Amino acid sequence: MTPNVKMLVAGNWKMNGTSRDLGALVAMADGWVGINGIAIDGALCVPATLIGRAVLQADGGPIAIGAQDCHQAVKGAHTGDISAPMLVDVGATYAIVGHSERRADHGETDEQVAAKAAAACGEGLTAIICIGETQAEREAGRAMEVVASQLAGSVPDNARAANTVIAYEPVWAIGTGLTASPADIAEIHLLIREALSARFRDGAEFRILYGGSVKPDNASEIFAVANVDGGLIGGASLKPDDFLAICEAAAAAN
Ligand code: PGA
Repeated sequence: MTPNVKMLVAGNWKMNGTSRDLGALVAMADGWVGINGIAIDGALCVPATLIGRAVLQADGGPIAIGAQDCHQAVKGAHTGDISAPMLVDVGATYAIVGHSERRADHGETDEQVAAKAAAACGEGLTAIICIGETQAEREAGRAMEVVASQLAGSVPDNARAANTVIAYEPVWAIGTGLTASPADIAEIHLLIREALSARFRDGAEFRILYGGSVKPDNASEIFAVANVDGGLIGGASLKPDDFLAICEAAAAAN
């Protein structure tokens, strides 16, 4: 946690879920009353096909709805892509950009990620910009250098604490059950905080999330680390009870 910065727990459903799975969202919203939800912000980034219906289900309640990507252009000849104004039109308020799976599957570069984030922020969305090293990079002792360079290249100049969230997700920890140690997380999050503070006047207030196999049983330990302002949750966000338990851990850390 960071003093005076509200924790954010954002779920990332990835390519999972059809309309019948939106009951999970209802269960999360219902369960929210049982946790100290006022202390944190909650969001669920669902597949594009579900955003419209999820927004209706969420009904302005405690869990905001987000997308998992957004194109950098406002409109045009980009078959299959979705722009930031389209996401705003359907009621999304967050957009994940530069997730490592998109960097790997679609060859997205830092430059493209920065353009996507700039487009999202420009339309009033909150961009969740993902960065993180691979296992080979960590083993080569290059984690700090890789994260610093991704951060510099992927965060656009129009980023502000109010419209941009950074998610540190070591690639080797995503979906593997492995998590970075609190000491490793602390080291990287401090590096991110210092770089943001050097570049942006409100750099001290940006939320920096940790992502990579966050579960109910490790969330408290991770959220207690300095400069960890919440989590980006993949697998566990598909299970309402697990997601709520992680949200509760974030609320308790605040
Ligand atoms: P995981 O995914 O929680 O399933 O590891 C995190 C993410 O990819 O955002």
